[in-house]
Amino acid sequence: MLVLGIESSCDETGVALVDVQGQALPRLLGHGLHSQIAMHQAYGGVVPELASRDHIRRVLPLAQSVLEQAGRGLDEIDVVGYTRGPGLAGALLVGAGVACALGAALGKPVLGVHHLEGHLLSPFLSQDAPEFPFVALLVSGGHTQLMEVEGVGRYAILGETIDDAAGEAFDKSAKLLGLPYPGGPWLARLALQGDAQAFKLPRPLLHSGDLDFSFAGLKTAVLTQVRRLGDDLEARKHDLAASTQAAIVEVLLKKSMAALERTGLKRLVVAGGVGANRSLREQLDAACARRGVRVHYPELDLCTDNGAMIAMAAAMRIQSGLEAAAPRYAFDVKPRWPLDALPAGAAI
Ligand code: KG4
Ligand code: ZN
Repeated sequence: MLVLGIESSCDETGVALVDVQGQALPRLLGHGLHSQIAMHQAYGGVVPELASRDHIRRVLPLAQSVLEQAGRGLDEIDVVGYTRGPGLAGALLVGAGVACALGAALGKPVLGVHHLEGHLLSPFLSQDAPEFPFVALLVSGGHTQLMEVEGVGRYAILGETIDDAAGEAFDKSAKLLGLPYPGGPWLARLALQGDAQAFKLPRPLLHSGDLDFSFAGLKTAVLTQVRRLGDDLEARKHDLAASTQAAIVEVLLKKSMAALERTGLKRLVVAGGVGANRSLREQLDAACARRGVRVHYPELDLCTDNGAMIAMAAAMRIQSGLEAAAPRYAFDVKPRWPLDALPAGAAI
């Protein structure tokens, strides 16, 4: 069975094709991505209307090139999966509209996929795929959650951010340092040359006893340092970047270890854009090795938004019998959509 996946929830257009054989892990046959980062950079953030228009321009040529890459024809597609939410409404509508039009034209079923479930299941596309059950640390630009995952669709949220997401904390701090959008990878690069102990920044909710996060205060603390430094900022940028990264990573690390302890699970899966952060990976690897915990990540190029994770989530939901993709083409999108509201969610 061939599943085409379309991602268009924010500023990347992604298309991918996976092959499903029985209960074996679906195999990626090809994927294509167009990032709009350069287009939005001039505005310091995503401009929703421009995002939607660019998805319209990119999605069909990308689908064509993915099929060529995989050596398959349109008529061989069995199911079309697309991101139904959460995300920008106009951007989501492009992917949903194209997916449903394709499905209707081919007479094949379509399946609306939850973007975060895509991130969560993306490590199953890596060389070192995990096995259920596990604790998941989902760290993207819009979400920060710790989850107990028993299987596809069986997600219990253990803790989440009460304000900014980890990616947002990276991006907003980077902006304060004058770095381009999206600032996470820029801040991480700058941090390589800095001293992580140079500035004392807060570790919000580190000792709260629960598994929730809060990053809004950190951004304020960075702003205070930027103001205090004034003209000296340029010379101390590396140190402030390194100190900011250290604060975010320490909270993510400690809370992840607490989640493993609380659940008694011996496997951790990291997903979402911040999962590409090298310092986070190094520290999680070391802490997990000490505890005999296996840790899994998506491939580096599949940490941020992509079509492969959407095709994969559609494929795995069908395999687990949670969805019988139906030939119904009346679509809607869900700009706000809690992950534990999915069918079979919160079933633990
Ligand atoms: O998962 P994602 O592509 O988007 C959402 O679904 O929100 O994640 C994007 C986020 C951005 O905030 C970006 O700055 C951050 O991931 N990010 C990083 C790194 N690479 C991407 N943050 C820190 N270090 C990185 N290397
Ligand atoms: Zn995402």
